Amino acid sequence: MITTVTLNASIDKAYHMDAPNRGGEVARVKRTVNSAGGKGLNVARIIKLLGGEVNVTGLQGGFNGQYLKALAREDGLLEDFFEIKGETRSCINILDPVFKSTEYLEAGPEVTLDEEERFKEFFKTAIQKSGVVTLSGSLPSGMSKSAYAHLIEEAKKAGKTVILDTSGEALEKSLGAGPDFIKPNKEEIEALTGLKMKNTEDLIEAACKLREKGALNVLISLGGDGAVLITEDQVYKMDPPSVAVKNTVGCGDSMVGALAYALDQGLGKKEALRFAGAVGAANAKEEKTGYVNAEELPGLIQRTKVRVIQ
Ligand SMILES: Nc1ncnc2c1ncn2[C@@H]1O[C@H](COP(=O)(O)OP(=O)(O)OP(=O)(O)O)[C@@H](O)[C@H]1O
Ligand SMILES: [Mg+2]
Repeated sequence: MITTVTLNASIDKAYHMDAPNRGGEVARVKRTVNSAGGKGLNVARIIKLLGGEVNVTGLQGGFNGQYLKALAREDGLLEDFFEIKGETRSCINILDPVFKSTEYLEAGPEVTLDEEERFKEFFKTAIQKSGVVTLSGSLPSGMSKSAYAHLIEEAKKAGKTVILDTSGEALEKSLGAGPDFIKPNKEEIEALTGLKMKNTEDLIEAACKLREKGALNVLISLGGDGAVLITEDQVYKMDPPSVAVKNTVGCGDSMVGALAYALDQGLGKKEALRFAGAVGAANAKEEKTGYVNAEELPGLIQRTKVRVIQ
């Protein structure tokens, strides 16, 4: 079993429009698609598509929180969210033929110190049946920047494998807790180090520094250029198959879901990386965010190359 954590969940509303709004006028939405949103929910849907057992946890509140849980259940996910007082946010994505995608992201509710403390206790029970725990996305407002560090410590104490996919201060403050894997992309590594990554050597150097700070394995994803995985004793380069790209949003979440699934199945790091790369590429082929066609995976896995470069 795998648990995915989403602290800043949302009701994602996709508004499909025939034409863009010119501003200051009434617009009628042609079709609305609501889904349980947040990176951890994308990760969970991928694990489910791969055939894994997954439960989703995090924070939810108000009527939107109830709706979020119902949407997660509709997707076939086991949900175990902690209830807070504030109302779960909505995020609106307006999709039209001209501007393609225009997003309005609500800030979300303020989490109180007391809620944070109670969630930390709740979390220990929520992850009990899982071997792997993923933590994805930003922290909600009000929550301390070291919240992930605390959750990682608890999960590690309970013997879980932890994958962390966040950025900025939330990532920086979590390294010392010893996450088994972190999965920044190139931009996130550049923002964290303040350095431009010009080549693979730069990426390896930056990853080694993050390892010194406590992260055990650093997986840096590079979109269509694949990924580099820096472990204790080896550096791997993964090259994904070239695919007809439709939508690369959620490729990182797909990669994290696949990595969690592979580790839960007992795969070694090299094979887990190959699998994760192939699943990322499978997501790039699809219009829908955080979706893969499982039937295409065997072929994509075969075309995903992993080699030791150091
Ligand atoms: N254009 C592409 N062609 C083939 N594979 C891709 C492509 N884009 C992404 N992938 C696969 O998905 C993995 C993760 O992609 P990426 O680096 O874009 O993640 P990300 O920036 O964290 O995405 P997000 O945060 O939107 O989920 C890559 O390592 C690769 O295996
Ligand atoms: Mg990402």
